[in-house]
Amino acid sequence: MSVAKRKDEHIAQCLKDPAVDRYDAGFDCITLVHRALPELDFDKVDTSITFLGRKLSFPFILSSMTGGTSRETITINQNLAKAAEECKVAFAVGSQRVMFEDKKAEKSFKLREFAPSIPLIANLGAVQLNYGFGLAECRKAVKVLDADALFLHLNPLQEVIQKGGNRNFADLADKIKSIRSKLEVPLMIKETGCGFSEADYQLLINCGIRYIDVAGRGGTSWGRIEHLCNKDDNSLGLAFQDWGLSTVETLEQADKFKNQLFLIAGGGIRSGIDLAKAMSLGAGMGSAALPFLKAALESKDAVVKLIEEFREQFKIALFLTGHKNVRMNDD
Ligand SMILES: Cc1cc2nc3c(=O)[nH]c(=O)nc-3n(C[C@H](O)[C@H](O)[C@H](O)COP(=O)(O)O)c2cc1C
Repeated sequence: MSVAKRKDEHIAQCLKDPAVDRYDAGFDCITLVHRALPELDFDKVDTSITFLGRKLSFPFILSSMTGGTSRETITINQNLAKAAEECKVAFAVGSQRVMFEDKKAEKSFKLREFAPSIPLIANLGAVQLNYGFGLAECRKAVKVLDADALFLHLNPLQEVIQKGGNRNFADLADKIKSIRSKLEVPLMIKETGCGFSEADYQLLINCGIRYIDVAGRGGTSWGRIEHLCNKDDNSLGLAFQDWGLSTVETLEQADKFKNQLFLIAGGGIRSGIDLAKAMSLGAGMGSAALPFLKAALESKDAVVKLIEEFREQFKIALFLTGHKNVRMNDD
């Protein structure tokens, strides 16, 4: 199956099966300390931050989902880019591997004209570094998007259970280190729904990595998506649908590295309150993907409405915990 077809199939399954979203990232067990006397004027609460040298209205990334040749993928990416620009949040595109297989897919990543002022983040699978990709492909992904940074995503669970997946994850750290030292924009690493352990954080710090989207368990389940995509074998993806460290657990694993890393809390962030809770655990910002998929197919305005809800909830959570602003920028 072509990469473009597979991406379309993933989106179809995400839209069909509500149980792809596991709603179990650990935030329900966290209570933020309420202030009855916050001593703040709500209208003066400032949710903005600076990220990758650009100002955001609040610390949020619309996370990597798609790109390709179908009309739907182009619509999704353009609506997300326009909404991110209007709301002043960052936007990360889905894997750009597809455009190396079919040049026509580049169109879905030419988004700078729709989002001139916000951080745009390119995306490739780190495992591709073991399958012929290198610095040239990373540079090309950045160039087509006119990106401010590149995400290399890690998805070992998905690749091992996917039919024909790329299973060789050996010796990737050295390759990540080498790309990091040569790429002209920041190299950032993300998971896709299973989180990172303390050992992973240490390895990535040794590679010179500073930005990590933890993308923990509890939101989108790639085990479940692959189970739905694989009509011949129903069991493997299902067995692993709740594998990994929850977003709360993976943030806790990063506890001793907080001064060295800028952590982005992804995986199951479903409200501005989840975002505030993640930031109370040390994240500098948050990201979400699946909640925006249906809206992105619908219209730019539908995405804007959802982002604004997240922002308002986040602002109220700051107010009710006695915070006048967000302490962390990425500089
Ligand atoms: C339809 C869909 C496609 C995705 N494709 C990619 C991708 O191409 N590259 C990537 O790094 N992550 C991809 N992800 C993972 C998300 O970026 C995110 O890390 C993960 O879904 C956890 O966030 P969520 O629970 O808010 O969805 C995808 C997620 C979804 C829902």
